[in-house]
This record gives sequence, C-alpha cells and structure tokens, in this order.
Amino acid sequence: MSDQSLEFGKEVKSKAEALAAEGRDANQVAKIIIDADPESCNYGIGIVLDNEGQAMATSETLLRYLQEEIEGSGRGQYRNSASLMADLKAAVLQWQRIPQTIWDSFVLALPSDAGTGAVSTAATIALAMHSGLDCIGVEELSWPGYKAIAKSCRVDYKEFPSEQAINREEVLPIYQASPQNTTGQVADKAVIAERAAMAANGHRTIILDRAYSGFEYASLLGTKGYDAIMGMSYERYIAPFVNENVPMIIAISPTKCFRSFALRPAGMLLAFIPDSTTRKQVTSLMNSVIRARGSAFEHPATRALVRAMIADREQLEREHALALSRLAETEQIWLTLSRGTAVEPLFAEGYAGLFRNPKIREGADVNLYNEHIYPVISSGRCRINITGIPSDENLQRKHAEAFARSCYL
Ligand SMILES: Cc1ncc(COP(=O)(O)O)c(C=O)c1O
Repeated sequence: MSDQSLEFGKEVKSKAEALAAEGRDANQVAKIIIDADPESCNYGIGIVLDNEGQAMATSETLLRYLQEEIEGSGRGQYRNSASLMADLKAAVLQWQRIPQTIWDSFVLALPSDAGTGAVSTAATIALAMHSGLDCIGVEELSWPGYKAIAKSCRVDYKEFPSEQAINREEVLPIYQASPQNTTGQVADKAVIAERAAMAANGHRTIILDRAYSGFEYASLLGTKGYDAIMGMSYERYIAPFVNENVPMIIAISPTKCFRSFALRPAGMLLAFIPDSTTRKQVTSLMNSVIRARGSAFEHPATRALVRAMIADREQLEREHALALSRLAETEQIWLTLSRGTAVEPLFAEGYAGLFRNPKIREGADVNLYNEHIYPVISSGRCRINITGIPSDENLQRKHAEAFARSCYL
C-alpha cells in the first residue's frame, strides 16, 4: 500500500502516541481513538459486542431492579442490603456452583463497586491479614489494573511466568480464575493444582480474581448447558484451593457476565476461611475495610443486583448464558477463519474468553488503524476482543486476514 493511502492510519497512530505521552494507559487510548472514528470497528475495549459491533444490551433484570431502587430512593435516607446478606451469600454461592457442604466456611462482603473495587478490597484485606507481605504477584501479561492496585496499596508489584506457582513469602498472589485478561490463556489444571499445593505448604492466603465466570467453557454451552459449565468452572478454578484448605478471597465481577458496564454494581467478595477462629477475625477485618471504603451503605446499582441475585438468580443466569453464547459463536468464527494462519493456535485448546494477545509486526498498527480496526496495542502486542467480529462474512474475512497478517505468536 502506498504511503499516501496509509495517511489515515498514520494519523491515528500519532494521536495514540500523543495520548500515551499524556499518561493514559493502553485501554484508555484505545477508547479515545475508537470513539473519534465514526467507522471504527472495536476490537479493543473489553465489553461484550453483538454481531453488529455494538455493545450487547445491559441485563434487563438488573435495569428493572435498578429502576425500582431509584424509585425507592426519593427520601434522603441511608439504604443498604444488610438484612439480605445471608440470602445474598446463598445466592452467590449457588451462582458460582460452590457445594453447599462448605458454605459455612465462606464470608461474603460487598464493596459496592464493580470487580475492580472487589479485587482492590480483597488486596487490602489479604495484606492486612499477614504482616510481612510487601508485594502483589500476578501472572505475566496480566490485566493492567493490578499494577494500579499494588500502587494504591503501597506495595511492590511483580509478574511471574503463567505456568508457575507464586511461592515467595513476601508476595501476595493474585491468580485469575477465568481465561486470562490479556492473553486468553486458560490455566492448566496441573498448574492450578501446583498453585494450591504451594499455597497450602506456605500457609499463604491467595486472591482469586473471577472477572469472567465460566467464560473458559463458553464453547461447551450448546452441548453441556449452563449449569454444567458453571460446575466445571468451579471445579477447574476454585475446587483445587478448597481441597487443599487454602484460605482465599475470591473477587467476583458481575460486569462481563451481566453486561452491567454502564451500571458498575456489586463486585462481590467471597472469603474462604476454613479455620473458624481465623474466620471470625477475617469477618471483623472485612467489616472494617468495607466501613472505611464508605461501602456499608451501597450505591443503588449494588442494591439492585443484591435483590435481583436473591429473587431472580435464574433469570440473571439466563442473561449470563447470552454472553457465553455470543462468545461461543465468535470463537467458532475465529477458529474457522484463522485456520492455516499464524494466529490459529490462539483459537485452539488452551485459550478461551474475550481476549487474545498476539505479538504485532512492525508497522502493522498503521495498517490496522487504516482499515478502521482497533485492538488495544501495547508493548509490541495487540489485544483483540474477539466478540468484535461482525456478522457480515466479507468483513469477517477481511478483519481476520488483517489480524493474521499483522500478528504472530
Ligand atoms: C482480570 C480482571 N479483573 C478485574 C476486572 C475488573 O472488572 P470490573 O469491570 O467489574 O471492574 C477486569 C476488567 O476488565 C479484569 O479483566
């Protein structure tokens, strides 16, 4: 392609570089440049997209409950879900397919914030549980939010190879308990077993970040059904730690599951504390941290999710299945279109979820932008939100070819 015809792509690239120089992170830059181009095809922002490239609808159930919450908020008084916490705990444990025999070992807290607030609150609590921790450890190429969380908790941040258990006395491990943002890797069962064994040996508390519950098994939704894949997800990511009696705080985000991006409610914390004396201490600590965050009285969207989860969990689960179904559809399209290309392995065994993050060739960013294709480009890699693939088959092929030309592993 001549230099002249790449003019648009070059302009976008310069704009992206200028925004990055102002201190914006790669996700923020992507959002700004996507919004500035009326012809943009979003492969960047981590939302769930429908087959027209539009954000999928927010959960109808949540919107309905939120409307009721707002209508009930006419009088200026504090409101919270304190009286509903036991019912909410049961509903969340059911949603996550956690066996009833171990429910008593869990403590629930609501940071009244989305998943980010849940992870960050989990870090505050876990760091306060153990003196001597001065670092947060995460898998390499992990979600950029962790770095900011470590900074705000005033501890160091360190990345470890994904296939490794984090096993250092001074390091609090945060493991993703769903396909990895950014890479799309699904942690191997043997690796998870090793992480659980190491944590048990080291008497370590860990954090599990569950931002994409069940997304790793989306492709099995059609054959196995929602209940089965949520059960498999529990078995893969949570059960190994339960079986080793590892104390852990599971941070659960509702955002991707129920497409509540615009509402940002109710990240949930489930602390699994097998020892009953420690559980009492941790409960008290969690209550203090929630109080200090000002979350003991919750935002209306959080209260709405609490009531919906208790009274309408099955409807929410059907809406969660809609996102999984869209993901399964797009995984199938990518699998077909990537055959014989450099990125084919990313759509095979071992990868799943919203994102893939291959390396990007020199100059390929200009070419992609020039075709109005916008992944998140950062540190020589290109994070692709796979639900960005449109329904038009010509466009699908064009986009898949552009990525195959631009990327390598
Ligand atoms: C790994 C991971 N953890 C936590 C979050 C935060 O979720 P939320 O959007 O609910 O704040 C995200 C969001 O992208 C994520 O990818």
